[in-house]
Amino acid sequence: MKKLLATALLFLLAVPDAWSDPHPQAAEIQAYRDTVMHGLGKSMKATSMLVKEKVDRRDDAVHHARSLHGMSALLCGLFPEGTGPDAGIETRALPLIWESWADYETACKKFEAESKRLVEIAESGDFEAFKAQFGNVGGSCGECHDRFRAEEE
Ligand code: HEC
Repeated sequence: MKKLLATALLFLLAVPDAWSDPHPQAAEIQAYRDTVMHGLGKSMKATSMLVKEKVDRRDDAVHHARSLHGMSALLCGLFPEGTGPDAGIETRALPLIWESWADYETACKKFEAESKRLVEIAESGDFEAFKAQFGNVGGSCGECHDRFRAEEE
């Protein structure tokens, strides 16, 4: 019996926050983070037009870089507990985010660091280095999505 209790207790401790109460504004927060993410997507798209030299506006690079880096500060805060699929909302955020919160924070920080480096390079005016670092920034979006975002239905 003791053993059974201990097992039950262990089980309870091991079950992560998947059962956390829904956030009172879960749907609104999800809509907000979706909008912020789409903003990031547009910034990346605009920057890629510079990088691919579809437009001859290299001086814009630093502004896009600052915008991406500025938004990176918001990222992890867009995912408070209780805003995952178990809150009964439509979302591609996987429960793994809250189960492995430290890893998720590492993924947010990776994007923060890569976009910071992008700003520094843009300020230095080395456009070839900017192109290379832009790839690393995109990679940090992709790494997080691969691990923490559900496939599109
Ligand atoms: C630390 C993790 C993380 C990083 C870094 C990140 N995203 Fe996301 N992103 C997510 C998650 C999780 C979702 C799903 C959110 C939801 O559906 O509630 C998402 C959703 C999106 C969406 C909304 C549409 C969709 O397909 O679900 C876009 C667009 C997007 N991200 C673009 C980007 C871009 C561009 C970057 C980099 C500049 C980026 N993201 C960086 C985690 C991240």
